[in-house]
Amino acid sequence: MAILYGENVRLRATERTDIPTFQRWINDPEVVEFLSNIFPYSLEAETAWFESVLKRPMAEHPLVIDLRLTHGKNGKSEWLPIGNCAFMGITDIHRSAEVGIFLGEKEYWSQGYGTEAMRLMLKFGFEDLNLHRVWLRVVESNHRARKSYLKSGFIEEGRFRKAEFRHGFYNDIILMSILQEEWFTNKQKEG
Ligand SMILES: CC(C)(COP(=O)(O)OP(=O)(O)OC[C@H]1O[C@@H](n2cnc3c(N)ncnc32)[C@H](O)[C@@H]1OP(=O)(O)O)[C@@H](O)C(=O)NCCC(=O)NCCS
Repeated sequence: MAILYGENVRLRATERTDIPTFQRWINDPEVVEFLSNIFPYSLEAETAWFESVLKRPMAEHPLVIDLRLTHGKNGKSEWLPIGNCAFMGITDIHRSAEVGIFLGEKEYWSQGYGTEAMRLMLKFGFEDLNLHRVWLRVVESNHRARKSYLKSGFIEEGRFRKAEFRHGFYNDIILMSILQEEWFTNKQKEG
């Protein structure tokens, strides 16, 4: 896909040079607090992960979330990688995909950038990939993420009870989804 631009963020393809940044993010305990990654990741392990995702269909390659830092002269902008996102397990017949997202640069949390990036993903998914359903799972206690997903138009549709063991406790996993028709209805309403 071509690079997708929003007001403050853009989504672009991941390059090999992004791997050390991804490794730093994925080893930050605060960043992975609500993620399923529990192991420390070496640069080699992160590189192996990157090699493995390149073998997946193009629509499932991870995308880097870049934040626009400056509107320079001649319309030139500087971009800072702040996170990544990806579709997973796209099904041909049902046109369904799981989506995952995280911002690795913590100072940019709670400023709307995650929601903006998710909306770009949904636009790409529904308007270019012709997905019919995008779903995600989120730990019950991850209130910031849940609020962000609601803002993007996801609806809570169920929960896996005590499905994840982290920090000594079992947690419920909330399932959320948005349908293609809901995306277009929301878009119409927002004008
Ligand atoms: C989840 C994530 C992508 C959301 O992106 P974001 O840019 O931080 O989210 P947004 O700012 O768009 O929206 C978050 C909302 O939750 C609110 N919020 C923040 N902390 C909160 C809390 N503890 N309880 C309730 N609401 C909270 C914010 O104020 C904001 O709402 P507002 O726009 O009405 O002010 C990002 O925070 C992140 O990557 N977190 C770490 C990794 C992670 O949890 N990934 C998701 C795994 S499912």
